[in-house]
Amino acid sequence: MAPIVRDKARLLEMVTPWKQSGEVVGVVPTMGALHDGHLSLVAAAKAVCDRVIVTIFVNPKQFNNPEDLANYPRTEESDARKLERFEVDAIWVPDGDQMYPKGFATTVSVSDLTDCLCGATRPGHFEGVATVVAKLFLQTQADRAFFGEKDYQQLQVVTRMAADLDIPIQVMGCPTIREEDGLAMSSRNLLLSDRARVYAPVLNEVMERIAEALRGGAIMSDVLPEALARLETAGFTGVDYLELRAADGLGLLESADVPSRLFAASWLAGVRLIDNIAV
Ligand code: PAF
Repeated sequence: MAPIVRDKARLLEMVTPWKQSGEVVGVVPTMGALHDGHLSLVAAAKAVCDRVIVTIFVNPKQFNNPEDLANYPRTEESDARKLERFEVDAIWVPDGDQMYPKGFATTVSVSDLTDCLCGATRPGHFEGVATVVAKLFLQTQADRAFFGEKDYQQLQVVTRMAADLDIPIQVMGCPTIREEDGLAMSSRNLLLSDRARVYAPVLNEVMERIAEALRGGAIMSDVLPEALARLETAGFTGVDYLELRAADGLGLLESADVPSRLFAASWLAGVRLIDNIAV
């Protein structure tokens, strides 16, 4: 079993000799409740790094709703077991006061990219993400970091943040891993009731249908009404966004004239599901 490290000094003690001997260190930042999506990131890291650190920290600063934070699944023991077969070098599980000691007063904020999508619907979310990820990058001194495209906006934000702050790390985006019925894997899927789980794949199904129409030359305003109606019929109670945006820079688009992605966030039985696909 990989060592579970809870203390910054111990982490430094482990990482320093790796760095001194020129080993390539990879980090896979997570909030735990690991699923095959996370494990695909660990496999990607193992393939190209000499040392791999998986981090597990449910970051309070990126939750804009206290109930959401309280309900977030915490499954450290089974997470550690799932990581066993990958033989990672460390599991970094900082306590809250290791990450944000008394007096902590710094926020990392990335502008522009965070004005839309989850940035617009979850105020403060990306400041929380950028702050904790900057700290994880510096604490682990990793050379490479692995993030899923499932959180595409997050991937763009942390890439920008690392470049802007001159943190010497290469941010790698890895493909979204899906259940057989198309539902994007997410720790939040654990919160779906059995009934909601049956309807959850409709989100991806609707998105695939829109993407196909867009590839055939349709424009968003033509295809949106039917898509929203289909989601409502399946029990989705609110759509935070269903938008086409440029893959690079996230500018809003009406048609897929440049490399673009379709983004959605919607609520099903009290659970917020997000997804995005290339068009
Ligand atoms: O994607 C996540 O699980 C989190 O946002 C991250 C990157 C671990 C930061 O807390």
